[in-house]
Amino acid sequence: MTFLFLALFFCFQPVSAVSLPRSSVIRESESESIYSYDMSAPDGPPNWGSIEPSFVSCAAGFEQSGIDYPCESSGLIDFEKTGSPMVSPSSAAAFNFANTTSNWALNCDNPGSCGSVTFKDKTYSLINLHFHSPSEHAVNGVQYPLEAHMVHQDEDGSLLVIGTFFSDGSQNDCLTHMELDAGQANRELQSILVNIISGEKSFVVDVASFVGGFEYLHYDGSLTTPPCSEGVMWFNARQRQNVATGQIALYESTTGSDEFANARPMQPLNGRSLTAYSGFE
Ligand SMILES: *[C@@H]1O[C@H](CO)[C@@H](O)[C@H](O)[C@H]1NC(C)=O
Repeated sequence: MTFLFLALFFCFQPVSAVSLPRSSVIRESESESIYSYDMSAPDGPPNWGSIEPSFVSCAAGFEQSGIDYPCESSGLIDFEKTGSPMVSPSSAAAFNFANTTSNWALNCDNPGSCGSVTFKDKTYSLINLHFHSPSEHAVNGVQYPLEAHMVHQDEDGSLLVIGTFFSDGSQNDCLTHMELDAGQANRELQSILVNIISGEKSFVVDVASFVGGFEYLHYDGSLTTPPCSEGVMWFNARQRQNVATGQIALYESTTGSDEFANARPMQPLNGRSLTAYSGFE
């Protein structure tokens, strides 16, 4: 009886561990990429939608990411004083490294332990952290040299991404925001890059250092990589993090995509509503 119980227990462990719907974000980082960022190539961003049938949203979707956020003074952004996402990042999140031809990603060893976001009574666990250079979102046409994507998933498989811009001091957009030491080397990014360059496959990251403040810009969009699935909630932090110009070159040396960078071009807003959460009163 004890044996049967143990056998069932060990049998069921792995099942429960994979019973969450596995997002395409994870799937992408485990397989070879079949798309590129070369704008003039047959597999480049303008043609992603026709690479394979499951990528059709990349071309046919009306709620695609990223976008160019308008100025606060444009009247296009609704300000909300309540309902901000409650972002609770871990300062010691254990990740494993995964690489593809288009980008690398850090996947959380044990989702639930890497931090979470609570929004509208739902909790989303951090499953994946990766970067894009240059940024895949912009503010009034101003792009940043780097953007972190912290991909969170709830128990139904819905995705919520926290995006953070990294500033090297050469950007000047129209939002009022706090910027931390723009242009200074980013210690946590450096630690990630050094780990990757030295071949580490699993290491601990202070994700909290990439999430500053309580103010976020929000809209509903998609994955920024094929299959470009929609229904992804986006929150771009209004507080920028710092990065040194030399760190961008170091990042690019780890992605193998330095020739074309790895940012999808901005997508049309198509009348979507934009919300600025102004934090907690
Ligand atoms: C990731 O894969 C790309 C493409 O194969 C390669 O150029 C790059 O060096 C790899 N990065 C690491 C850190 O292994």
